[in-house]
Amino acid sequence: MLIVLNNKCNLTKDEFLSYQEKIATIDEEFVLCPSYTHLANFNLQNASLGAQNVSTTEMGAYTGEVAASQLSSFNVKYCLVGHSERRTYQHETYEETNKKIKELLKYDIIPILCVGESKEEKALNKTKDIIEKEILGAIQDLSDSEKLKLIIAYEPIWSIGTGNIPTPTEITEVLQIIKNIFPTNTLLYGGSVTEETVTTLQQCPLIDGYLLGGISLKVENLKNFLKKMTN
Ligand code: 13P
Repeated sequence: MLIVLNNKCNLTKDEFLSYQEKIATIDEEFVLCPSYTHLANFNLQNASLGAQNVSTTEMGAYTGEVAASQLSSFNVKYCLVGHSERRTYQHETYEETNKKIKELLKYDIIPILCVGESKEEKALNKTKDIIEKEILGAIQDLSDSEKLKLIIAYEPIWSIGTGNIPTPTEITEVLQIIKNIFPTNTLLYGGSVTEETVTTLQQCPLIDGYLLGGISLKVENLKNFLKKMTN
């Protein structure tokens, strides 16, 4: 199981350092995606480093951006792209996600492409169309060998931070759609993954790992989740 911790926009420098000490005691291997500001302070033996975002461009006169080559120089191995929070608040498009994926691949950073439907889209039975549209937009022009390098995370927008998750049947249906496009890639589920929901999520055989938001910051809950997950 691949476990990816998305800290989102959280933790001051001192908070990050004490958080890092606490998660250093976790037995399972994981990927940690902290804010850019903490990349230089990453110091874990039990984790790989991930980023939450990357520029669509190479280094240059792009104030406020961070390029894939810069992430690579900090030993970043993974990077989230297309997260619904960036699409909602920063109005990120799938053309931009596509450019980000290409930049990351140039520097051997594994893109974790996030896709998922909104509450309204789900109510209108549009989940399948949305997932396919999002994926095909993000991967246009990629070669077959480039596509093989992606990790895909199914994150229903309505599930993020709400405590609600889809049924195992619903998750399996969506992961099967993704598998039709990416037969051998690692598939993650994200959205209200907790100690409470893990038992239900374990009924989904197509899940290869989890993308954790809120619980990534609550170390005791995270450890309980991991214990339940491995039992
Ligand atoms: P929550 O685990 O807080 O629902 O967030 C999921 C997420 O957005 C991870 O990228």
